[in-house]
Amino acid sequence: MLTFKNALLPNGTRHTLTVASAEDHIIDANALTALPGLIDPHVHFRTPGLEHKENWCSAALAAIRGGYTTVFDMPNTIPPTMTAELLADKKRLIDSQLQQADIPLHYQLFFGADKNHFSEIHKVKDQVIGIKVFMGCSTGNLVIDDDESLHAIFAIAASLDLLVAVHAEDEQLLKARKQQFTANLTYASHSHIRNTEVAVRAVEKAIALTRIYGTKLYILHTSTAAELALIHAAKQAGLPVFAETTPHHLFLDTDNYAALGGKAVVNPPLRTQTDRDALFAAIRDGVIDTIGSDHAPHTIDEKSQAYGSCPSGMPGIETTLPLLLTACHAGLLTLTDVIRLTHDNPQKIFNLTPHEDLVFVDTHTLRSVDELQLATKCRWSAFAGRELRGWPVYVVLAGKLYHFS
Ligand code: DOR
Ligand code: ZN
Repeated sequence: MLTFKNALLPNGTRHTLTVASAEDHIIDANALTALPGLIDPHVHFRTPGLEHKENWCSAALAAIRGGYTTVFDMPNTIPPTMTAELLADKKRLIDSQLQQADIPLHYQLFFGADKNHFSEIHKVKDQVIGIKVFMGCSTGNLVIDDDESLHAIFAIAASLDLLVAVHAEDEQLLKARKQQFTANLTYASHSHIRNTEVAVRAVEKAIALTRIYGTKLYILHTSTAAELALIHAAKQAGLPVFAETTPHHLFLDTDNYAALGGKAVVNPPLRTQTDRDALFAAIRDGVIDTIGSDHAPHTIDEKSQAYGSCPSGMPGIETTLPLLLTACHAGLLTLTDVIRLTHDNPQKIFNLTPHEDLVFVDTHTLRSVDELQLATKCRWSAFAGRELRGWPVYVVLAGKLYHFS
């Protein structure tokens, strides 16, 4: 049995919490706040085929160090998760890596939509958390760039009661814009090429498809005020539309290219301070439902390449909660917002079976992000050196206790 004495709960009361466990520990939790084990609905843990960037041994440790006990992994691996057989192969690899790490992380997998494999979707319908649709190209080669295929996916998903999660950037417009921007490209060009219009066009299309088919729609990494207006209207109209944002779209913007270079390159790209303000407001207003870390590690060598060769994505699962807790101190969010975004809403939207996992945070500890302390295999962070107030100290995952100092 694990006993946490006198822990503070988010509602301001104090309780002694007990969790069934093979281990026996009595912990003084007087200085700690108890939160439910967090759910990250959007990670790229890179197995199979990209394990030089990350694997489930390093990533699972990164997850629990970040306060997360459940993750949903994306299908843009090598090979992509686009058949029932590849899904089963991926699960086997993940289970063996988690066993090796001795971390029984809860996970779910997204299935990758691919034009040539629509017939696989019904085979996996009970084994996946949803279908991931890349409406625009990103890391890997999964992309659905024609309307006919999009209609087919939304129709199939609705008939199987599966959620569709979209990477909402319009491939046609993106291609056209890439041709316009050829000279003197810098990392900052990324935000001009993949501009707001690229995202807006895809979000409009996805919402229109949901209006036709009734498909449950989850819009990944919402990054602009313009998308938020569309999502708000769709919700008002009663459509089953849910929206995620990321820590990098909340806590970084186009001004960060100067210091971060290729590390700041992500899809969708970093936006403006105005967009960031709109994202925070949308969290408070309930237009944003969840935060996904979009933990997408690449090696530092890969990220040091010139624009055009530098891959998009950054790690995030270890720093998301400290960033959010720091935003609470700044008055931008409340602890209730954080729990709603990182636990309650993902639990509801994805119909997850509840569990007893807990994370105990010291909301007062001030510490700067130290790349040497990170568990992610890529060992860098866009937030390196940032002083954050509020860090996980204990995690209880499936009755196992993890302690971080
Ligand atoms: O920045 C990104 N990185 N965006 C994506 O859509 C994919 C991700 C990755 O897998 O690297
Ligand atoms: Zn992603």
